[in-house]
Amino acid sequence: MKWVYIEDIAGYKNKEVEIRGWLYNKRSSGKVRFLLIRDGTGVIQGTIFSSERESPLFKKFDALTQESSLIVRGRVKEEKRAPGGHELNIEDLEIIQIAQEYPITPKEHGIPFLMEHRHLWLRSQKQNAVLQVRAELIKSIRDFFDGRGFRLMDTPILTPSACEGTTTLFETEYFDQKAFLSQSGQLYNEATAMAFGKVYCFGPTFRAEKSKTRKHLIEFWMVEPEVAFATLDDIIELAEDLVVYITERALEKNKKELEILERDTTSLKRVKKPFPSVTYDEAQKMLKEKGSKMEWGDDFGSPEETLMSEIYDIPVCITRFPAKIKAFYMQPDEKHPDLALGVDVLASEGYGELIGGGQRIHDLDLLEKKIKEYKLPREAYEWYLDLRKYGSVPHSGFGLGIERTLSWICGIKHIRETIPFPRLLYRIYP
Ligand code: 4AD
Ligand code: MG
Repeated sequence: MKWVYIEDIAGYKNKEVEIRGWLYNKRSSGKVRFLLIRDGTGVIQGTIFSSERESPLFKKFDALTQESSLIVRGRVKEEKRAPGGHELNIEDLEIIQIAQEYPITPKEHGIPFLMEHRHLWLRSQKQNAVLQVRAELIKSIRDFFDGRGFRLMDTPILTPSACEGTTTLFETEYFDQKAFLSQSGQLYNEATAMAFGKVYCFGPTFRAEKSKTRKHLIEFWMVEPEVAFATLDDIIELAEDLVVYITERALEKNKKELEILERDTTSLKRVKKPFPSVTYDEAQKMLKEKGSKMEWGDDFGSPEETLMSEIYDIPVCITRFPAKIKAFYMQPDEKHPDLALGVDVLASEGYGELIGGGQRIHDLDLLEKKIKEYKLPREAYEWYLDLRKYGSVPHSGFGLGIERTLSWICGIKHIRETIPFPRLLYRIYP
């Protein structure tokens, strides 16, 4: 008999199939026993009929506990009322293992308990749905860049230098030297962009963020395109195209999951380019009028991100930040050197910053000055300075955080549910 996955079941109407999975739930009603079986790709209702109370299948049914592993065989029937629209008339049931008392029951559990059992929590329907959307999101991002001729470059995770400031660095030993876990692949991508024209890296990044928020992870995944000869405006357009592409793909491919997550997709459907674009100066004035305490020179906090999303109901680009709140490598605005040619894309509905990026300094003298000003050890950046000595060109790029983007698409308020095993402040188990 053919082993099939539940997500493919519609193609096996009236056929005999085998399903391998785990018991999600069960109930009895007269001469019928109902099993909800999950196999990771979906959930299907299985039914066992018998007129004898002592039927061998009923006995096996009685022995089954939540999350017991099993193989069932039977005929697929269309059944509009069943979850998924099909059910399986079970003729054979093979028990693989009877599960011990499962800690996560259909009743509500507190978050600390669920986090402690993250390895099991992943089996529940909502967590499954979020991570299905994640898999599709990553695929759509790869398709977007590959389709535009970008080359994938894998940048190192162990690095001798900081990219995004020294306060969130994770330090480790590297034989007789000091090394850091990568905060961003950007600096290396600036080198690969000069070698390949347009590139992107996609990998885990690490920030020892000391604050506990619902938007920060210690380990998160980021996709970072970098384009030689591109200006701030070019990269903003690329960012808009990317965000439009991935939201459309999620709406098209993840209907089922977004329904499971009860995501109201109205705001996602509004995502069209161009996004509203305001300068930091304009944004700061608007926020003040709305009651924010943010002064010129302060960075956006979570309350400001929420206020911005009350003004605009689609993602918004903020540009030209005070240089002193941004990284050392940002190209200054020609007319206002205290402003940096950076862009942040803020999500709608208060989900926060999806994208950070901008134009990079391409002038050798200026970059040397900035490295000094930011008190960075020059030795670690010699190779980076080289890029400004040998055919330096204006170039730009950005980073999009996968988990931030996923929490926005799925409508998940806390970022911890957007990665299989979140690394959070003071939590590394499981
Ligand atoms: O704004 P960030 O720090 O920019 C960079 O790292 C640049 N070097 C990227 C580049 O230009 N190539 O981070 C980019 C994005 C943020 O907008 C956010 O989505 C995400 O990465 N991010 C985090 N996501 C989860 N947890 C954290 N602690 C994050 N820090 C940044
Ligand atoms: Mg940022």
